[in-house]
Amino acid sequence: MSNVLNCTGHELKLPNIVDSAGAYLFDDRGNRYLDLESGVWCTPLGHKNARVNTAIMRQASSIAHAGFCFSNNIVEDAAKSVLEITGLDGGQCVFLCSGSEAIELARQICKHITKKPVTMCLHDAYLGSYSSVIHRENGWHLFDWRECAVCPNGEDCKSQCPKLKDIPDSVSEFVFEPGSASGFVRFPPASLIRNIVEIIRAQGGKIVVNDVTTGMGRTGEWFGFNHYQIEPDLVAIGKGLGNGYPVSGLAINRKTIGELKDDIFIYVQSHQNDPLGAAVAHEVIEVLIDEDLVSRAAILGGKFLKELQTLANSKCITEVRGRGLMLAVEFAEKTVGDRIYDQLLEKGYIVCNRGGMFRIDPPLVIEEADLLRFVEVFRSLLDEE
Ligand SMILES: Cc1ncc(COP(=O)(O)O)c(C=O)c1O
Repeated sequence: MSNVLNCTGHELKLPNIVDSAGAYLFDDRGNRYLDLESGVWCTPLGHKNARVNTAIMRQASSIAHAGFCFSNNIVEDAAKSVLEITGLDGGQCVFLCSGSEAIELARQICKHITKKPVTMCLHDAYLGSYSSVIHRENGWHLFDWRECAVCPNGEDCKSQCPKLKDIPDSVSEFVFEPGSASGFVRFPPASLIRNIVEIIRAQGGKIVVNDVTTGMGRTGEWFGFNHYQIEPDLVAIGKGLGNGYPVSGLAINRKTIGELKDDIFIYVQSHQNDPLGAAVAHEVIEVLIDEDLVSRAAILGGKFLKELQTLANSKCITEVRGRGLMLAVEFAEKTVGDRIYDQLLEKGYIVCNRGGMFRIDPPLVIEEADLLRFVEVFRSLLDEE
């Protein structure tokens, strides 16, 4: 029996993974796997990124953690970078340890300011692992947007639509996940989101964007919310921010920071604003900029989507969709997906298999040739079905 508790609900699939490089993982038997999942969507720069590793070693060999009573320039610089890429210049940023925590802090801040009790999110939004966001029986307004996806008004979504009129005045914050990562990789209509944002703002609520998965270039823009022409009050970032190192961030706009200063707010966590996490975040942002990886995700993602869509000719596939390098392939039957998943793994390809759907989120640095080879292997397995 293993000494390690695995309570993720996911079976451990691969043997001992001992090494990595870019988009590849290697096991102790010398097998190579193309990681089309980026771990848990956490490594946009690929595994064992040399610049990030150097930044980790440099920072760890001076000061990794000093405690929240001491400041450090690297944290200042990293916060400035986050505020620049989120467009929340003039605001402030705090570094934390996980996406779940960034969402938790965002909700606490909004409730502290607005004094309103209800959190609103789209019905299929994943907001983290804490019980405070998993159990949504009380204090939540879940907006079911399935009808909106096929609404005849399309991009002319009307603010007088009954569903929008039902949004209660008691909403403290709308936590918007701009592309359901853990659900079905669907992207809500922009006009719907703009209308919701307008209503929440008019009622005195805040707009929190959950860009934990869709952020850091994944969808071909810096952040998923950039596809929606909205200006959030708070942006939660995780996963890709650390490229595998557990650092997350919450960027907060100037107005909200002003409101927090008017009414003292306390949130204490041992690793808040640790220099090591901040150094990693700073370097990840620099690499994304220097290597123009956000545009690369848009261009490469567009080509990859087109290639994957050719698989929809197979009777086994019902839909292929995506935005940037965040894609999904849906199967007509779950059992076919399960079978193909196992075969892909055997052939050295890792995708994320979720009940009849593959989620595919490769590192932004992946080679085009690797993506094309994957599509051909996938096609040959579909042909055998
Ligand atoms: C959209 C989204 N939000 C929040 C989280 C929570 O992040 P973490 O697992 O780092 O706590 C996840 C994790 O999968 C996620 O996909």
